[in-house]
Amino acid sequence: MTALQTLTLTRPDDFHLHLRDGAALRDALPWTARQFARAIVMPNLKPPVVRLQQALDYRGRILAALPQDSDFTPLMTLYLTDDTTPEMVEEAWSSGAVHAFKLYPAGATTNSDSGVTELKRIYPALDAMQRVGMPLLIHGEVTDPDVDVFDREAVFIDRHLIALHRAFPGLKIVLEHITTAHAVAYVREASELDAQGVPLLAATLTAHHLLHNRNALFQGGMRPHYYCLPVLKRETHRQALLDAATSGDPRFFLGTDSAPHARNTKETACGCAGCFTAANALELYCAAFEQRGALHRLDDFASRFGAAFYGLPRNTGSVTLERTPWNVPEALPYADTDIVPLHAGELMEWRLRVAS
Ligand code: DOR
Ligand code: ZN
Repeated sequence: MTALQTLTLTRPDDFHLHLRDGAALRDALPWTARQFARAIVMPNLKPPVVRLQQALDYRGRILAALPQDSDFTPLMTLYLTDDTTPEMVEEAWSSGAVHAFKLYPAGATTNSDSGVTELKRIYPALDAMQRVGMPLLIHGEVTDPDVDVFDREAVFIDRHLIALHRAFPGLKIVLEHITTAHAVAYVREASELDAQGVPLLAATLTAHHLLHNRNALFQGGMRPHYYCLPVLKRETHRQALLDAATSGDPRFFLGTDSAPHARNTKETACGCAGCFTAANALELYCAAFEQRGALHRLDDFASRFGAAFYGLPRNTGSVTLERTPWNVPEALPYADTDIVPLHAGELMEWRLRVAS
């Protein structure tokens, strides 16, 4: 059989994205807007987006930064803190502009200092979310310094997520950017589908976790552009993630977690966590799905399951990828300096056809 030469997808959505603000937003946003119709925008700015008005203002800045003619829609989220009240949840939900709350355990990752210190403190807010149908997005890692960094996701599931899911069985939950076989198994086992086949508990998968294991961090030396949180895991876990992504199971869908950091903040003694994948996101997912001969499953993963989970209409329009090998640029302009995209300088098999 000859290999597929073009692949047309319904216009996809990115259900986990960092867009930053100011000059960084200006340079990061067009990469996403050229591929995706919508994106769930993470609220971990400095200061974090905790109130409805902040989210509305941030949405305004995103819309103002869009290239002309772009119809990209940012889907806003709020950052949960110990002080998030049920009233804040209700107000956010009734605005129609806020699609989820994000839970960062305090100290888990970039700009998570104002995160939740103890889950019990946000139970009243979670109760309100369950009542109105607002999804909870979870950065699922414990922050206990005694827990090995490679075990933090699995320990979070065992110590916290199982109890939380039992306490709020009707709460819609997305376990974000999962990295382990343990997370895949938990989502499959704990998540029921409703009558429409929509899950209550789902997970997003990044391209970098589908394509790389932890060896990538150390190949020939320290590789800061592969450092993200949760950190890459061993190959058996990557295989479990590929199984989940390509299985056609609606509980697993696309969320790039593209997390831009300027080159000088990555290539330094204490580098920031985050892989910048927005510039070649769909091409990276194609490479991952092709490893399993599963390109025919990419449309559901990228363009259907996530929208169904969030209760959003499926996008109209399409994007086309071509089998046209190309070299990813070594660096791209970013916030008056530069940024290194994932797979910089490397050959990629698939390329997005840019609308002319
Ligand atoms: O690698 C990461 N980068 N993981 C996160 O959870 C946050 C993100 C960021 O904002 O840079
Ligand atoms: Zn993230």
